[in-house]
Amino acid sequence: MNHLSLTKIYSLNESDFTFKEFNISEIENGSVTWKTPSNIALVKYWGKREPQLPENASISFTLDACFTLTTLKFKKRSNSQSSFEVFFEGEKKDDFKPKIETFLKRIEQYVPFIKEFDFVIESRNSFPHSSGIASSASGMSALALCLMSLEKKINPDITNEYFNKKASFLARLGSGSACRSIEGELIVWGNHKEIEGSSNLFGVKFPYEIHTNFKNYHDTILLVDEGEKQVSSTVGHKLMYDHPFAEQRFKQANNHLGELVEVLKNGDLDSFVRIVESEALSLHAMMMTSNPYFILMKPNTLKIIHQIWAFREKTGSKICFTLDAGANVHVLYPENEKVDVNNFVVNKLIKYCQENHYICDRVGNGAKLVSNY
Ligand code: DP6
Repeated sequence: MNHLSLTKIYSLNESDFTFKEFNISEIENGSVTWKTPSNIALVKYWGKREPQLPENASISFTLDACFTLTTLKFKKRSNSQSSFEVFFEGEKKDDFKPKIETFLKRIEQYVPFIKEFDFVIESRNSFPHSSGIASSASGMSALALCLMSLEKKINPDITNEYFNKKASFLARLGSGSACRSIEGELIVWGNHKEIEGSSNLFGVKFPYEIHTNFKNYHDTILLVDEGEKQVSSTVGHKLMYDHPFAEQRFKQANNHLGELVEVLKNGDLDSFVRIVESEALSLHAMMMTSNPYFILMKPNTLKIIHQIWAFREKTGSKICFTLDAGANVHVLYPENEKVDVNNFVVNKLIKYCQENHYICDRVGNGAKLVSNY
């Protein structure tokens, strides 16, 4: 069976995730629920190759308030064909099925027991579906964790470390950034020479002591544009294939991560601000210079950025912004600035948000098992 020691965790490769023997004779049905957070990348993943391997290493803060709650109900298969149903916020969602079907096909070789069950997947997000906040990271990681709970029922010997690594490995095959949504508070995904244990196959916890400046860091998400994403990440990543600046970009990201490793240890907030904002703008620069090209920022995104810069100039605050592949702005700031920055956000920035919508989030500790029977 799959019992792996901690020492082996650091050299896991694809074959270690293959489930070779299984006996499900004692499992008829059951249900498991995981609550899994979203994450915000500080160094961005943008560009990948098969099978879901990143072109550069990335690092993210795990969030807390933005999460997906997923229940997986399983029942031993009754027909020759296994089946599954998907419900989102109480409604049957057949249009979500193709993405999940592709995911299940992709991971079948690692969790072959799934062919023996019928599934009902029930999911809901803590944030509005149309908010422009990517739900694939929290959604795919929640499903991966539910499947790992089923694997643990079949093979109770697996260690917690193996459980988390394999959950991250499976989640990655659903959505790259999802592999960074299993644990907290800072997760690295992608081989990086300065980060021990880092891997292209799964996310790992930042392995060094994090300076207190970064404890309980805040992320206020300003919902500038709540519409559907203009460029899906699948399309977006493909734009990096023939991109004239791709190689330089991958190098830049790896260099930024190398610098950030030191900053996270020594607490240098000025360097943090410089690296994080440069990453956000570089991500958008890649979209503006791809073929076809896109501008995903909106006029209000730029207004917010300029307000943040002016506030920093005036007050000496260490506030900064980052962006995903969209117009929303993540405002990042340390715990000791929360009162001043909250006042600034409410007085000066909320007016740029769609219907004044924003979400107060902060760094969190990772996914939680809610129920399992
Ligand atoms: C801009 O993880 O959504 O948020 O692997 O195709 O599902 P897929 O892409 P996805 O890409 C995330 C891109 C990003 C940056 C990041 O989170 O690192």
